[in-house]
Amino acid sequence: MKVFLKKNIKPRIKNGHPWIYDNEIEKIEGNVENGSIVNVFNHEKYFIGKGYLNTNSKIRVRLLTRKNESINKDFIKKRILAAIKRRNTSEKTFRVVFSEADNLPGLIVDKFESYIVIDITTLGMEKLKPYILESLIEIFNPLGIYEKSESSSRIKEGLEKISEWVYGRGPELIPFQINDIKFLADTKGQKTGAFLDQRYNAMILGNFSKNKICLDCFSYTGNFAVHMLRAGAKNVILIDYSKRALEIADEIMKLNKFENYELINANAFDFLKNLDKSSKMFDVISVDPPSFAKSASNKLSALKGYKEINLRAMRLLKDGGILATSSCTQVVSEQEFISTIIAATNDSGKIARTLYRGGQPFDHPIVLNIFETNYLKFFLLEIEKIRY
Ligand SMILES: C[S@@+](CC[C@H](N)C(=O)[O-])C[C@H]1O[C@@H](n2cnc3c(N)ncnc32)[C@H](O)[C@@H]1O
Repeated sequence: MKVFLKKNIKPRIKNGHPWIYDNEIEKIEGNVENGSIVNVFNHEKYFIGKGYLNTNSKIRVRLLTRKNESINKDFIKKRILAAIKRRNTSEKTFRVVFSEADNLPGLIVDKFESYIVIDITTLGMEKLKPYILESLIEIFNPLGIYEKSESSSRIKEGLEKISEWVYGRGPELIPFQINDIKFLADTKGQKTGAFLDQRYNAMILGNFSKNKICLDCFSYTGNFAVHMLRAGAKNVILIDYSKRALEIADEIMKLNKFENYELINANAFDFLKNLDKSSKMFDVISVDPPSFAKSASNKLSALKGYKEINLRAMRLLKDGGILATSSCTQVVSEQEFISTIIAATNDSGKIARTLYRGGQPFDHPIVLNIFETNYLKFFLLEIEKIRY
């Protein structure tokens, strides 16, 4: 089972990127079943590495290793242990494996105290699932492992979506604590149930929220809102168009004994537009929309969306108010995001002063050579009027 690369291909693969596209392959030798492990050679028949193949995907091979080693349970366990070691953390809740960034393409593992949630996005990784589960059980001895493999890319890979306990059992809402705040990861919710990537950004925003009137826009289960309230916010409004997310936000608020909040089940774009008219003014606004574009072809509409929502938020802020603005759209670069924010400030007659520039935490590492691992932008901006 050998894959040979073409001669004049870009040096991306040689320089450490694990993806091999269909148009980079000269030939595939042998009758290889999709999802199986293949040995990859360059045009001079020099061994490059091992990975898994899927002819249904434009990314034909994802490399797992550059060494000639067996891909077995020991290999997977070694990779997970390496990911844990590089995190160097004593936290009980963290992202254990971040896919390509941890040399395990197609695998996400989040640990919520005694429970683990995994998300598998590729057929090749799906085939390695028994090794993944065995390794996680040996390393963490968890009470339960929930598989929440629901990404749309699974369909292209020829896989069904999965959402079930694959080891042990646990509650539908998995309890965990972050920054001494009680949270619930929703096994029926979005992604792995909670957005661990925003936990430090939310904590920093909290520092700016004491005695403030706040708005958590695209709140999901209220990560930013509870951090604001914990820091002493006077009041927080949460907006999300997922009713379920708000119901769980309500439970989380009650768990933490917070009372000064209001839940609004609405489309944030419309809601902010209407508030605009009634000119309700906030001291602090967080805007954390979902990814607006999956591929570069939708980038322009994503930028339009960012400009619109940030402009609306800026109009609702008091002079000198704080805008915490996030973008998780991988195809939108930090510079493009900044340019969009500048365009929104220009339209609203304001300037934006950066008080904090955040991004992905240590357990969502960015491999600079694999730019797809870089997705989260976060800015804490003081918005100041220049035109009255
Ligand atoms: C990236 S998540 C927010 C994560 C959250 N800030 C956290 O840290 O846990 C985006 C959220 O936006 C919500 N959403 C998507 N489109 C929306 C819209 N047009 N109006 C309101 N909410 C929307 C989704 O339901 C989802 O909960």
